[in-house]
Amino acid sequence: MYSIEIRDLTKKFKDKVAVNNISLKIKEGELFALLGVNGAGKTTTIKMLSGLILPTSGDIIIESMDIKKDTLKIKEILNVSPQETAIAPNLTVKENLEFMAGVYQIKNKDDKINGLIKTFKLDEVLNKKAKTLSGGWQRKVSIAISLINDPKILFLDEPTLGLDVIARKELWKVIKGLKGKITIILTTHYMEEAESLSDRIGIMSNGKLIDVGTSKELIKKVKSKNFEDAFVKIATGGDL
Ligand SMILES: Nc1ncnc2c1ncn2[C@@H]1O[C@H](COP(=O)(O)OP(=O)(O)OP(=O)(O)O)[C@@H](O)[C@H]1O
Ligand SMILES: [Mg+2]
Repeated sequence: MYSIEIRDLTKKFKDKVAVNNISLKIKEGELFALLGVNGAGKTTTIKMLSGLILPTSGDIIIESMDIKKDTLKIKEILNVSPQETAIAPNLTVKENLEFMAGVYQIKNKDDKINGLIKTFKLDEVLNKKAKTLSGGWQRKVSIAISLINDPKILFLDEPTLGLDVIARKELWKVIKGLKGKITIILTTHYMEEAESLSDRIGIMSNGKLIDVGTSKELIKKVKSKNFEDAFVKIATGGDL
């Protein structure tokens, strides 16, 4: 079964076409990486898929439900870690976790929160106000919070941006641990990340989804020596 079906999805901001007629099917448990240069349309796509903004046209079917009709039901089974880290600045890390557990009415709240504290090694920052944390720590907290409702579908918009190399590797481990269990769409500018984590990769350019495949397939298709070269060739149309 498909977890996400996207048909002819378009988003216009006045005369700017941010997402241009995208169609894509993502299987249950798949980890799909969405790549593209700055402004390609990745975040806009994620915002539409997670119900944060409305498409100009096209359809989004999530777990067989139409996002236009079953918005609330769909929002219960997904979660997003947005590109601009979203945590309450004046609450401590613990309070942030508790607040979101409350929003989602999590039943075994303490167990869930303690599990996330352990997975993301949040002990040392637990009682600090979110606004006093470094950018990387805020990001880690934001990603931890996105797992509070055990989402079936998780959108991670540049999850490792600003993380130090160890934190990045730790987060990869967490993401790998989720692989196969939930459907994940992530965006990244790190080719190594897309290659090592994803089942398939989609490359966007000027709002269009111009290629989709495994890293190996894409490398072969454009006869490149590695994935970074393949990405540059595809994203620039061979101009660089
Ligand atoms: N609210 C908005 N109003 C007007 N234009 C917008 C809005 N949001 C995005 N855009 C435009 O849509 C295009 C796609 O933006 P988007 O944020 O989706 O790109 P992106 O692929 O996520 O880029 P990045 O890698 O820099 O995060 C850009 O040209 C951007 O300026
Ligand atoms: Mg973006």
